[in-house]
Amino acid sequence: MSENVAVIGVGHSKFGSRKDVNIPELAWESIKPALDSANIEQKDIDFFVVGNAGVWSSEAAIPALMAEYADLAPKGSMRVEAACATGNAAIRVGYQAIKSGEADVVLVLGIEKMQESPNPTVIELIGRFGSYFWEFENFGLTFPGYYALHGTAYMMKYGATEEDYARVAVKNHYYGAKNPYAQFQKEVTIEKVMEPKYVAWPFKLFDCSPITDGSACVILASEEFAKDVEDKIWIHSQGVGTGTANLSRRSDFTSLESARYAAELAYKRAGIDMDAPYKYLDGANVHDCFTAPEIIAYEDLRFAKRGEGVQLIRDEQTYIGGRIPVNVDGGLKAKGHPIGATGVSQAVEAYKQLLSKAEPGRQAEIKHGRWLAHNVGGTGHYSYVTIYGLEKLKK
Ligand code: COA
Repeated sequence: MSENVAVIGVGHSKFGSRKDVNIPELAWESIKPALDSANIEQKDIDFFVVGNAGVWSSEAAIPALMAEYADLAPKGSMRVEAACATGNAAIRVGYQAIKSGEADVVLVLGIEKMQESPNPTVIELIGRFGSYFWEFENFGLTFPGYYALHGTAYMMKYGATEEDYARVAVKNHYYGAKNPYAQFQKEVTIEKVMEPKYVAWPFKLFDCSPITDGSACVILASEEFAKDVEDKIWIHSQGVGTGTANLSRRSDFTSLESARYAAELAYKRAGIDMDAPYKYLDGANVHDCFTAPEIIAYEDLRFAKRGEGVQLIRDEQTYIGGRIPVNVDGGLKAKGHPIGATGVSQAVEAYKQLLSKAEPGRQAEIKHGRWLAHNVGGTGHYSYVTIYGLEKLKK
């Protein structure tokens, strides 16, 4: 058994349209730097986990393909799926394998090659991560529409405007422009975000995360294995929550109950004060699959009181230097959202930020030594909140 689990190495591919590589090559782009930064070889890996939703791409047996291409056979493996929270769910499997004593070193890969299918097909397939029979078949809901229901409910209840949502896109593109791995590396203005026609009111093109190919990889290790590794961070806690499939079963669209639940568990396990958790964190990656849900996440994670999240973005409090920097890698919005890779990419970002290895212009100040990752599958069908720390968790 290992009480504590460390992240000892990370790797990240360029996100975007990756028609230049096949799935094993895309996987290797992040596996290789992860092995190198952990200073280990394939023989040191006890078990490997692949986060991949994958219904839009050619290959399904990705762990076996990786075993062949990356020389990982005959070690045990597993493919994990939890809609857009797939990446963090894969990390959970590795984390638990090490905690339980089953493994000392686990490689976790998140990968998606969404652009292997045409966009309308991908959008339809993502639409199945809700309640397909009731909502897709009957009302034709796809994800821009699902999250627009939440965005409009928030506008009605708390007075947020389309321009407020545009501010989230402006921030995330600002930081995406400083991230060489991001799909979009161009800054945008509020006027530019307001220009295109509606995808699903109030969301326009720049309110949406894109359809992305990419991979990210982390190497997790037990306390014993990690003791001599210099560059490492620790998983302090994880909280996981599940929501109803059918949205008509939910009483409130201005918050995701599963995310609130997951956050409470994660804070409690990490010994973080729930009244003002941002005072204990240096920054966060939140699941901004659309602009409005980033603001809702501020509230679900208690960075602001209910109804006050929108003021955080108006006051630029989620930029570096503000109350809590959020998505300073560009977030899903500008970095891209290769569904199975997103949660792993958030872990890569926690490692880079906490070890002060982020690119110029997007490194947060590290005072508390803690970074939070919030990864949501569906519209809160699954929520994962993970807290990473520079030092081991003090009991
Ligand atoms: N933000 C900014 N620019 C974007 C973009 C985005 N989200 N998506 C595409 N673009 C750009 C492309 O780079 C392209 O630019 P170019 O013409 O200069 O090359 C242009 O917009 C058109 O791209 P295309 O891929 O044809 O877009 P589309 O209209 O088919 O799809 C969306 C756009 C927003 C509808 C689609 O990306 C989408 O559905 N996103 C949501 C995905 C989702 O639901 N994920 C799960 C969330 S939980």
